[in-house]
Amino acid sequence: VSGTFGADLILVGFGNVCRRFVRLLEERAEELRGVHGVDWRIIAIATGRHGSARGLRGLDVTRALDLLERGGSLDEIDGFGPAAMPALRETADPRVPASSPRSSAGLIGQVAAAARAAGSPRPLVVVETTVLDINAGQPAIDHVRAGLRAGAHVITANKGPVAFAHAELTAMARSAGLCFLFEGAVMDGIPVFNMAAAALPAVQVEGFSGVVNSTTNFIITAMENGREFAESLAEMQAAGIAEADASLDVDGWDGAAKAAALANVLMNAGTTPQQVERSGIGHLTVADVQGAVAKGRRLKLVARGRRTGSGVTVRVSVEELPANHLFSTLDGQQNALVLETDLLGDFAIVQLGGGLTQTAYALVTDLVAVARAARHPLEP
Ligand SMILES: NC(=O)c1ccc[n+]([C@@H]2O[C@H](COP(=O)([O-])OP(=O)(O)OC[C@H]3O[C@@H](n4cnc5c(N)ncnc54)[C@H](OP(=O)(O)O)[C@@H]3O)[C@@H](O)[C@H]2O)c1
Repeated sequence: VSGTFGADLILVGFGNVCRRFVRLLEERAEELRGVHGVDWRIIAIATGRHGSARGLRGLDVTRALDLLERGGSLDEIDGFGPAAMPALRETADPRVPASSPRSSAGLIGQVAAAARAAGSPRPLVVVETTVLDINAGQPAIDHVRAGLRAGAHVITANKGPVAFAHAELTAMARSAGLCFLFEGAVMDGIPVFNMAAAALPAVQVEGFSGVVNSTTNFIITAMENGREFAESLAEMQAAGIAEADASLDVDGWDGAAKAAALANVLMNAGTTPQQVERSGIGHLTVADVQGAVAKGRRLKLVARGRRTGSGVTVRVSVEELPANHLFSTLDGQQNALVLETDLLGDFAIVQLGGGLTQTAYALVTDLVAVARAARHPLEP
């Protein structure tokens, strides 16, 4: 690889996914640096309730992780704080936005401006992993906007921005010559979006169907085996797989957000999760799922998108499928997505094992994709 892409990372959200991401970077550092020419420093970490830390020379991530594991606040290691780097604390530089540094969008602008003011030539990458807001995708959309406005590439595992504002954010990124990537939004790290962008030129996606929510598939499978709904849900929450607000999974909102993301990216649908016709699995009983099995069938929460004469219709609902259907072979947390295309016909992507590492890996692939794009920018 010619030239190292030495990025300064601004981490917005530092929960399960992002902590696994920074550990994964370290675990694969040799290959990322040696083979892919990707290097990084973490210059800011913002959280909701656990403080924030900034340090233009790179933060000590091990210390940050230790602090949070001990229940501390990142404010303790903030390099712009009262004790350190007073020049950076001041907002005298006109390039530092006046917006409150207390909001994460403000922090992004402030840190980016401080890095520029300090003469850093390193590319900036915002890594957005805050929780999904199903009403409007906020404040994650503002975090993406703030990053792009500040000249940073943005990568995210949060479905909100791509489910609610894909067209706007992609246009913003393109016009600034930056990347906005979101591989982790659907099927964890299994390549869906980056695969489509890289490997499906001139292919029209006519529709899709998928089992894309691991938590609900796990619960349905457990109920087939006689286990109660609440018990299986608790297991998914303990494993960090279920959304922080588990009703997002159970009521089909996570599926609707993923379906909207797929429809927006692959079919240019311009839709939102609210426009997805949606039902969840909350009404299902052990008797329902076992009744389907007794008929040689299985219940699955299926997301579908289809191009029609007037646009793209998207829905998420429980379907009773025959035993020989691809989706009926999916147990536990397994996912599958079928893309219906004009040139390649129908093809499936199946995820047989998913989880935190896979989602964190999506961010790694996005970071490598940013590095590739930065080395070979498209002509304007
Ligand atoms: N877990 C998975 O397997 C998985 C899979 C695919 C996609 N995802 C997506 O990845 C994202 C992160 O998931 P997660 O499991 O890591 O969630 P999480 O453990 O709940 O972490 C969320 C993080 O966001 C922070 N945060 C909340 N509001 C913020 C704000 N305004 N500014 C800055 N930080 C803020 C939280 O800080 P505090 O704790 O201090 O509030 C926390 O550090 C979600 O959008 C989720 O849908 C997760």
